[in-house]
Amino acid sequence: MEAFGDDIEKVLIKEDEIQAKLADMGEQITADYQGRSLLLVGVLKGAFVVMADLSRHIQLPVQFDFMAVSSYGAATKTSGVVRILKDLDHDLRDRDVLVVEDIVDSGLTLKYLLKNLAGRKPATLEVAALLRKEGIQQVDLDVRYVGFDIPNEFVVGYGLDYGEKYRNLPYIGTLRSAAYAP
Ligand code: IMP
Ligand code: MG
Repeated sequence: MEAFGDDIEKVLIKEDEIQAKLADMGEQITADYQGRSLLLVGVLKGAFVVMADLSRHIQLPVQFDFMAVSSYGAATKTSGVVRILKDLDHDLRDRDVLVVEDIVDSGLTLKYLLKNLAGRKPATLEVAALLRKEGIQQVDLDVRYVGFDIPNEFVVGYGLDYGEKYRNLPYIGTLRSAAYAP
């Protein structure tokens, strides 16, 4: 593979470490929701890889839904106000809803989304995120399932992009500075 190998500075989390962690998370989720069915909500695009792999470790009836959001741009980024580009197909009322995220950075996007989703009266609403950046969450967020806490560095791979590239890397890594050049 390695179409992008030269752009990667270092591998932060290897493919087998990610898969092992997702298996653990899936086992925990399966135990926590025993006897129920789950609606997994993915935030496009980054979450689609995590969602595909995590869901296969959840031994419960599962349905899938996706939403696409965009922030209102640099000026309003700190407000965390996001625009919903694609809304969910499912009604959330009385459902057990698990939002699946690739990464929680400032947490602002997620905070906004959770408020929006909570208004639709699900029975339960929790979050599973593969990555969480250490120490910089600007908002108080209760992320029930976290894969890895990582340093505050920009990472790509496993769903995460820079300029829409690198989402298909099977590991999480950082970019060489040359890869940021236009
Ligand atoms: P937040 O609102 O600051 O938590 O960030 C929300 C979104 O920013 C994430 O869902 C990602 O799409 C993107 N993002 C944040 N950090 C990174 C990163 O290190 N690499 C790639 N995308 C990131
Ligand atoms: Mg992105």
